[in-house]
Amino acid sequence: MDIEEVVSDFVSLKRKGQNLWACCPFHDEKTPSFSVAPHKGIYKCFGCGKAGDSISFIQEHDGLSYMEAIKWLAGKYGIEIEETERTDEQIEQQNERESLYIVMGFARDYYQRMLEEHDQGRSIGQSYFRERGFTEKTIKAFELGYSLDSWDAFTKEAVSKAYNEDLLEKAGLLVRKDGGRKYDRFRGRVIFPIHNVSGKVVAFGARTLKKDDKPKYLNSPESEVYHKSKVLYGLYQARQAIRQHDNCYLVEGYTDVISLHQSDIENVVASSGTSLTTDQIRLISRFSQNITVLFDGDTAGVRASLRGIDMILEAGMNVRVVMFPEGEDPDSYSRRIGTAGFNKYLADHQQDFITFKLNLFAEDASRDPVKKAESIKEVISSISVIPDPVKRAVYLKESATLLDMDESVLLAELNKLLIEKRRTRSKTPLSEPETDILSETPPTEESRPLDQDQLIAIQERESIRLLLNYGYQPVEENYKLYQYLLEELNEVDFTDPLYREIFDVFRKEHDRGNTIDSQYFIQNGSDEIKQAVIDLTSVRREVSPVWNDKYKIHVPHEQDFLDHTVYQNITRLKRNIIQKLIDENKENLKNVTDPLEMDRLFDVQKQLKASEMELSKILGIVIPG
Ligand code: CTP
Ligand code: MN
Repeated sequence: MDIEEVVSDFVSLKRKGQNLWACCPFHDEKTPSFSVAPHKGIYKCFGCGKAGDSISFIQEHDGLSYMEAIKWLAGKYGIEIEETERTDEQIEQQNERESLYIVMGFARDYYQRMLEEHDQGRSIGQSYFRERGFTEKTIKAFELGYSLDSWDAFTKEAVSKAYNEDLLEKAGLLVRKDGGRKYDRFRGRVIFPIHNVSGKVVAFGARTLKKDDKPKYLNSPESEVYHKSKVLYGLYQARQAIRQHDNCYLVEGYTDVISLHQSDIENVVASSGTSLTTDQIRLISRFSQNITVLFDGDTAGVRASLRGIDMILEAGMNVRVVMFPEGEDPDSYSRRIGTAGFNKYLADHQQDFITFKLNLFAEDASRDPVKKAESIKEVISSISVIPDPVKRAVYLKESATLLDMDESVLLAELNKLLIEKRRTRSKTPLSEPETDILSETPPTEESRPLDQDQLIAIQERESIRLLLNYGYQPVEENYKLYQYLLEELNEVDFTDPLYREIFDVFRKEHDRGNTIDSQYFIQNGSDEIKQAVIDLTSVRREVSPVWNDKYKIHVPHEQDFLDHTVYQNITRLKRNIIQKLIDENKENLKNVTDPLEMDRLFDVQKQLKASEMELSKILGIVIPG
């Protein structure tokens, strides 16, 4: 299948040389790093690393399985597919899934038809939706329907169309009791079809129309195509808008999603009343890294949902929160105050998770110092789950400002949590421990504290990482980061031979007037050097600029405060080296017998201590004694 043709349905490609380029559909960027090589039949993004062929593009883009993607392509381009050989079990499973999709589609059409054409659907179903303010367009977009108040109207219709009862039961549309009694699961309810990302109906939510009928919503059971924890209501209708706005609103219920759509907010999904799962978060992250959680206005429910916020942070995503007045949910509130008012409310009441958590606990905290300590712990605990150390540093700073507290106090608390966490999952290696730029004790796989040599090695690595990634970026006017590093590290003797070599080569080439960067090492270095440089220069995900522009919250990229980062790094490195010298000098003092030599060593010790103190002060570290 022609990759150019497939991909250009989704992004607009521009030819540059042999390849075609576009902004990557899989991550947020302003300059194109997504390339298509038509002669090779592949795409590759140099920003996020996603790569593959036509089929994997469709899989990735629409969240489809391999077979689904092939079928989609085949359908679109009218191609006969040769089925590759599969095991009987696979075929059976595939067939079951296919049959379920088909019968679910049939049921959706049926319920829609009942709503539109049947007297009962029109008088009861439609008037209910009208009462709720749903428009014709919304009803169509969400494929809403109605199930007749009858024991077996649907089953009869389905069986007459040759759907067998086993399948209807597997799909959860028919309930069969032990005694052989059979009846439709959904009776006399309005129907909300639940779609997967590619728009196939995989389940239904059905709301009763009677006041005291329990349950209020009756949902399809799990099946081969429906795993509750992996589906988000409304994602199919929302995905384009989520990508466009680079943000996803998360609400609780079906009607919240639908009402927000009617308020012109289409980037909204619901977890459907259950607590958020990591699979659902991952689904959203395919389309945006930003989630705004909309909480109903009752504090008890909010406290119960706090875990969801940490899970979003843990996934490396950005989270904001909006609270609604007591007793309101997004559905009721948007209808009460209207589209314009609601949009303004969202804009005015968005909070980052720190402010949100502080406000949530503030009521008690203002009077009670113990409660205040608790609320601080709450915030720091959320910060500690964020995988990116740079973001952690930014949020820590913000917390310090908001709490009017010394950053170092919060940092100590954060480090305590980070170390505890590391202890509990000791064997899993950490991705980028040394870049924990604010952390006094850098993270390690081990629980015991690092010795001086390890600390030095970590800061050496960090220096080289900064040099390779940002060497030619200015830190001051007419002053580049590499100039600073060359000067500052001039007297430093790298302990790690790899980093020493990289640094020496950089300096040598620079002295010869050559501009050198990571590419130079990747092309000319030994295998070891090459590997090290690739490791050090592979980028982590960037924070979307929309987040900054639109919400006025500054979630900076590492580049934004390079001067700070590099200064901290160098100061830390020097401090570690001094501390090592102090330890060595102490050893010497123990063994010295000559009083003159002892005097000299004491002097040295005093000087070293003074330097240590000075460097510590810069880093905001208080040394006891
Ligand atoms: N829910 C469910 N089963 C229930 C109750 C709730 O599946 N018995 C899910 C539904 O997805 C529902 C969501 O949880 O939309 C939120 O529940 P709730 O706030 O009670 O319902 P609303 O969405 O406000 O529905 P309505 O406005 O129709 O009462
Ligand atoms: Mn409601």
